[in-house]
Amino acid sequence: MSAQSPVPQKRITAPEITARKGGEPIVSLTSYHAHTAAIADPFVDFLLVGDSLGMVMHGYESTVPVPLELMVMHGRAVVRGAKRALVVVDMPFGSYEESPSIAFRNAAHIMKETGCGAVKLEGGRRMAETIRFLTERGIPVMAHIGLTPQSINVIGGFKTQGRVRNQWAAIEEDAKAVAEAGAFSIVLEAMAEELARKITAAIPIPTIGIGASAGCDGQILVMEDMLGLSPRVPKFVKEFGKVGESIRNAISSYATEVRNRTFPAPEHTYAVKDDAAPAKGKAKAQT
Ligand code: KIV
Repeated sequence: MSAQSPVPQKRITAPEITARKGGEPIVSLTSYHAHTAAIADPFVDFLLVGDSLGMVMHGYESTVPVPLELMVMHGRAVVRGAKRALVVVDMPFGSYEESPSIAFRNAAHIMKETGCGAVKLEGGRRMAETIRFLTERGIPVMAHIGLTPQSINVIGGFKTQGRVRNQWAAIEEDAKAVAEAGAFSIVLEAMAEELARKITAAIPIPTIGIGASAGCDGQILVMEDMLGLSPRVPKFVKEFGKVGESIRNAISSYATEVRNRTFPAPEHTYAVKDDAAPAKGKAKAQT
């Protein structure tokens, strides 16, 4: 490699995330496109191409209708944008539940087509056999329990889990089952703090909380939610920015300036070149 070649960035791997259990908190965000992936890349350990993109980017009411190829398309963009963070792509509803071999076929398709380093799927004990099947065949799997949005039609909506103590044993069993099956980490979504702490202490893989308290090994938020770009956010979201307001102000100023003809100004306008002037050196590319 020549002295001027940039040093290639080493990408974080799934086993490196597992090794962070109990250590410095793991930082992650969702990302759906190349530019935001590139901006977030230096600050996060992994980026999740979540199927929440169906609701956030495509206006679906839930994540249930999201097709596999939409995940592949956004997954490719995020892998192109992020050079350092592990990229995890969600397996959408209907692409993995039927059998371990169908799950393998679709997970392998996602990995080959996007270049991502892992997939995520929802479910506890019922998905343990599939998680084992995938990990034994070279596919790192992140599990996801608690509120599992792909099951809202069974749960009856986006409902917090484990607020009643008699629900805890089943959720703890789910966490242990996916850890034993080989998941490299697990998302705990919208559950009571005490339960999240209990699970985090009980399993050897990192727990990534979203609405599950600081008692988890790491945190994830939907990027648009924490940027202040989403019209409505759940209670567990902290808005770290006001990007929605900033976009609204910028578009409003643009519309005003177009209407009162102050934009485009002379500095945004090309002048005619004098044909008679002698050419100076090589022509410069137009910018
Ligand atoms: O789809 C998604 O964005 C997710 C996160 C909320 C964990 O699964």
